[in-house]
Parts: sequence; structure tokens; C-alpha cells
Amino acid sequence: MNVRDSEAVGAMLEAAGHIRAEGEADADIIIVNSCTVRQKAEEKAIGKCGNLNALKDRPRIVGLMGCAVKRLGADVFKKLPKLDFAVGPRRFGMIPKIISDLQEAGYPLERKGAQRLEIPDEDEVPDGLDAHPDAPAKDSAEAFRSYVTILLGCDNRCSYCIVPDVRGHEYSRPAKEVVAEVSSLASRGVKEVCLLGQSVLRYGVRNRAWFDGDGESSYAESFPRLLEALEKVDGLERIRFTSAHPKGCTDELVRVFRESRKVCRHLHLPVQSGSDRILAEMGRRYTRAEYLAAVRKLREFDPEFALTTDVIVGYPGETEADFEETRSLMEEAGFDNAFIFKYSPRPGTRSAALPDDVPTAEKERRDQVLLADQEKRGLKRNQMLVGTVREVLVEGPSLRNKVRWSGRDSGNRIVVFEPSGPLEIGSLVQVRITEAHPQILVGELA
Ligand code: 5AD
Ligand code: SF4
Repeated sequence: MNVRDSEAVGAMLEAAGHIRAEGEADADIIIVNSCTVRQKAEEKAIGKCGNLNALKDRPRIVGLMGCAVKRLGADVFKKLPKLDFAVGPRRFGMIPKIISDLQEAGYPLERKGAQRLEIPDEDEVPDGLDAHPDAPAKDSAEAFRSYVTILLGCDNRCSYCIVPDVRGHEYSRPAKEVVAEVSSLASRGVKEVCLLGQSVLRYGVRNRAWFDGDGESSYAESFPRLLEALEKVDGLERIRFTSAHPKGCTDELVRVFRESRKVCRHLHLPVQSGSDRILAEMGRRYTRAEYLAAVRKLREFDPEFALTTDVIVGYPGETEADFEETRSLMEEAGFDNAFIFKYSPRPGTRSAALPDDVPTAEKERRDQVLLADQEKRGLKRNQMLVGTVREVLVEGPSLRNKVRWSGRDSGNRIVVFEPSGPLEIGSLVQVRITEAHPQILVGELA
């Protein structure tokens, strides 16, 4: 979501006449986008801003945007006395105006007037949600792949999570707007979109997204209906979305997965824990059995269906037995990939009131155990695909070995292959898989 917000701000600044700098060193304006979901992420963004402010090589405007600004409020200027402006996540559309105001006030040579702070309300809808770079370089990923924000904020209030406090209430953008944005992207060559929302399957649940006289779409209908509308967009080849919640894995969603040619067979379905006791404490609103039922539903119709997840280790009171439940759930679900996070208490969340009682070393050990399990599991899942032919969206020469090219299959798996002739970035090719590794598949053009 932050990558997408940064991109939108970049596009708005270009539209306002600014030019993209080659790199940090020659930039007159630098804006750092921040995340506060874990303490470490916030420290990184603040640290980065501090370093930029310390750079005296040239006068420049330095700003901070994103979730950390909303959390810190005016205190952000205590941490960063030289910061020129700070903008919370749902007000990033004001950045071009803030910069022109600052420039008028003599910034960065002469800093007249106060630092600027903009904190959005819970329900604010930012301008520029649909801003995309005008003409990305033909050989860049942005030329054929785009993120599209469809849902802002989150109303779930999981006990450990600061997102609802900093990103505000859930708001679904009107379906008409989303379809128009995707159509416009497709008409300039975008082949793949990834629809974004903290809990994307809740699209159209808190507020209406469809205004065509059918009344409010139900939970089961609103998001699948959006997928079906986007399926009809000419030129678009692939539709992805993230993140999901098991409650949204309805029969209707599975039907769309089955019938659609464009909707990719991958779901990022954060589980967080495999222990019913911890899940209840987290306020996740599903049990282990309900989560596994959603997994079964998806894998029954397609055993190759790719599932990835997020897990938190070391939640307050997580015992060895709870942890073993997480291990066994991950094995049962057969995840293709998993992101493991060490619990980090966030101010103002419900769990921050509980003692953070799993020692750091133990969190580290649990993290390593899950990563090692996942390495083996990822390899096993990928070995199942040796001999199959995957449709791959070509991304360009592989980073490690330029002779090879890479792309992704429908399940978002990285596929590496040797091109036999000239290949176009953004094209679809068929690759027969010959080798499996824990994180990548290797194959040859079929
Ligand atoms: N501590 C550790 N991990 C967290 N996440 C969210 N909040 C916290 C926290 N306080 C993780 C969850 C979420 C992912 C984006 O970040 O796993 O799915
Ligand atoms: Fe945070 Fe839970 Fe919302 Fe995800 S669903 S953003 S973990 S509150």
C-alpha cells in the first residue's frame, strides 16, 4: 500500500511540473514514506529522514508521509527538528500544494514560516488515489503492472494492530471509479493489476460501492462482482488482489476463481497463529478449523492454488504449545510462502496493555523454526509443479543471472527461464518447469 501511495505522490508531482531525480544525491525534494506496523519499521523511516536532514551537501526540502506521521502527530518534529513537512496517510493528495507553498515561502534556501503538519481525519478520502505515472519507461515493470487501491483503512481491530488507528475507517471506492482507473491503465499497456486493501474482500461491505439500483451488494457479492467487471476490461490479462481474510472466502469468490481466465490463482491469506486461544485473543474472528476450511475450499478446486500467509510469533502469552499449533497449521495448510513477524507491541493497541512476555531470543528461535519449515515446504510445493507448463508474465532479465529471464506464474511464483530469441517485457509465455527450488521455479520455453 505504501509503494502504491508513493507512486501516486510521484505521479502527482510530475503532473505539477516536477522532474524525477536520478537518485537521492541530486534530488531537491525528498519525501520518505513511513510504516508504523512494527516499531522497527517506524524507526527505519525516522532514521532515514534524520540522515537526509543531516546531509548538508545541498539545500533541499525533506518531508515525511504515511502511518508514522499519523501516530506521532506534532511529536514528529521533536524527533526530526529539521523536517520541513509531515503528512498523514489519508492526506497525501495535498503534497504538491504543500511543496508549492513551501517554495513560495523561500524553502529550501530560506525557511520562512513554520513546518507544515497535515493529519487526516479517520474518514478522509485522499485526492490523487487514481494518479499513475504518465509514461513509465517501456522496459520497467510499471509499464505493464500496476497497483490500484480499492479499499482504504480497516475496521477489523485485531488486538495487536495499529493500522486502524493510523489508516482510519474502512472505505470502499466506488466501483465505477475503480473500473475506469483499470480501463485507463489497460489502454496504455498495463497487463496486470493488483487491487489493494487491508482486508480487500470486505470491499463494498461498510459503504456502498455499486450505485445501480440493486441495493447494497452483500458481503458475498460486492468484491466478486468487481472482479467480474474487471474481467471484461480489454487488454488486461491478470487480476490480483491482497490481502484476504477467511471470512471473505465465500463460494461466490471460489466460483469467480474457477470461471475467470484473468483472476490469478493466488491468495495472500494472513493466518497470524494456529492456536485457537491466541486467535481469539487477537480478535481474528475465525478458528483454526474455519481457516483450514477456507484453505480446503480453494485447494479442492485447484490443488496448485497458491497460498501465502503472515504469521506473528511471540504474541503475549504464546506458549510452546501455541507455537506448535502454528507449526502444524502451516504444515496442514501447505503454504507456498510465508512472512514471519516477531511480535512488536504498538502503542494504543489492545495487546500493548499485556506484558510482552516472550523473550526476544525465543521470538527469534520461533521465527527461525518457521522459516526453516517453510523452506522445506516451499520446495515440496514447487516440486509438485515440475513437468507442468506455466503461463508466465515476462518481467525481464533475472537479477542474478542476466542470461536468464524471469517472470511470474498465475500463483505469483517466480519462474526463471532462458529466452530462445527476443522477448518483450510484459508478454505472456509458456514455460515448462524443469527444476524446483524453495523460492523459485526454473524451466524452458515450451
Ligand atoms: N507485531 C508484529 N507483527 C505485526 N503485524 C501487524 N501488527 C504487528 C505487530 N504489532 C504483521 C501481521 C500483518 C502484517 C502486515 O504485519 O502479520 O499481517
Ligand atoms: Fe490490522 Fe487486522 Fe486490519 Fe489486518 S485486518 S490491517 S491485521 S486490524
